[in-house]
Amino acid sequence: MVARKKAIARRLVQTPVSGGYAGLDLLPSAVLLVDSGFQIVHANSAAENLFELSLRSLRERTISRLLANVALDRMLVEVVEQEWSHRTLEMEVSTPGRDPILVACVVTPAHQPPVRLLLELQVIDQRLRAAREERIAEQAEANRELIRNLAHEIKNPLGGIRGAAQLLEHELPDPSLKEYTQVIIKESDRLQALMDRMLTPHRPPRIASVNIHEVLERVRSLLAAEFPGQIRLIRDYDTSLPDLRGDFEQLIQVVLNVARNAAQALIQAGTPLPEIRLRTRAARQVTLHKERYRLALELHVIDNGPGIPDEIRERIFYPLVSGREGGSGLGLTLAQSFVQQHRGAIECDSRPGLTVFKILLPLG
Ligand SMILES: Nc1ncnc2c1ncn2[C@@H]1O[C@H](COP(=O)(O)OP(=O)(O)OP(=O)(O)O)[C@@H](O)[C@H]1O
Ligand SMILES: [Mg+2]
Repeated sequence: MVARKKAIARRLVQTPVSGGYAGLDLLPSAVLLVDSGFQIVHANSAAENLFELSLRSLRERTISRLLANVALDRMLVEVVEQEWSHRTLEMEVSTPGRDPILVACVVTPAHQPPVRLLLELQVIDQRLRAAREERIAEQAEANRELIRNLAHEIKNPLGGIRGAAQLLEHELPDPSLKEYTQVIIKESDRLQALMDRMLTPHRPPRIASVNIHEVLERVRSLLAAEFPGQIRLIRDYDTSLPDLRGDFEQLIQVVLNVARNAAQALIQAGTPLPEIRLRTRAARQVTLHKERYRLALELHVIDNGPGIPDEIRERIFYPLVSGREGGSGLGLTLAQSFVQQHRGAIECDSRPGLTVFKILLPLG
C-alpha cells in the first residue's frame, strides 16, 4: 500500500501538471518536496492542513525548522548519502494549540532538480497502532508458549531414548554394532541442545546497570575469535550514552545473534570487503509498548552483505525460519524475545548490499 502510494507520488512529482506540482493535491497524505539543503520547495494541500501553514510559509522553512526532529534530520542525510530506496520514521507533528498528531513519515529520494527528496506523512490512528502492537505481542507470546510446550514434550522422552541406547550399547555382542547406538546417542544430544536453546528465554532476567558499549565490545571479541581476520568490525559509538537497566548476558546474546547472522551471510556470499558496523545513538521521545520514553538507545547492526532472502524476509523473527544451511532459525526469535523482555523493539530493513537491524531499548 505504502509502495503503491509512493509510486503514485513519484509519478506525480515527475509529471507536474500546469501550475507546478498541483497533481500532488490529489493525494490524501501530506507531501513535502525538499531540495538538497532540505529547504521545502513545495507542499501539497494535505501538508498545508496538517501543519496549519500556507504553502508560502512552508516554503520559507527547512525540514529541521518545521519538524525539529533530530532523528528525521539524520534520516534525510542517510537517505541522500546512502541512496536508500526509502525510509520510514514514526514521529509526532506538533502545532500550537493542538494535540500532537502521530504520523508515519516515508522519505524517498528524487532526482528532479531542484527536488532531492520526497517526504510523505501519513497520520497514524493511535488506536490502530496500539491494536497492531498488541496483536504482534500476543502472537509472539502464543508462539513462545507453543514452542515451550513442544520442547518439554520432546525433552522428556529424549532422556529415556538416550539412556536406553547407552544400556543397549553395553549389551551388544558385536562392537561394530555400536555405530548404530552412537547415531542414536549423538542425534539425541543434538535434539537435546536444540530444545535447551528453545527453552532458555524463560529464565528470569537479572537486571542491573549495563553499559551497552561493554556489551558491544564483548560481541566484537567473540566475532573476531569466530571469524578471525575475515570481517572488518567497525565501532560507531556515541560514548556519551547513559547506562541502561538490563540483563548483561541477555543483551550480549541479542547483539551476538544478530551480528553473527550478518557475519555468516557475509562469509557465505563471499562479499568483497565484508564489514559489520555497530552503531549506537540516542533517540528522543520514543513510544515503546504503549509507554512514552524521553530517551531511548538506538542500536544499529549494519552489514554490507547479500541481504535477507526475499522468501523469508517477512518471517525472520518467527521460530524455525532459516535461510541458512544448518540454521535452526532460533537466533532472531531469541533476540526478539530478550528485547521484548527489556520493553524494547527490534526491526529490520534489508536489501542486497545493506542490511540494518535496529534495536530500540528504553533508557531511564
Ligand atoms: N544480516 C543478514 N543478512 C542476510 N540474511 C540474514 C541476516 N540476518 C538474518 N538473516 C536470515 O535470517 C534467517 C534467520 O536467522 P536466525 O538467526 O533466526 O536463524 P539461523 O541463523 O538460521 O539459525 P540459528 O541462529 O538458530 O543458528 C537466517 O537463516 C538468514 O537466512
Ligand atoms: Mg542465526
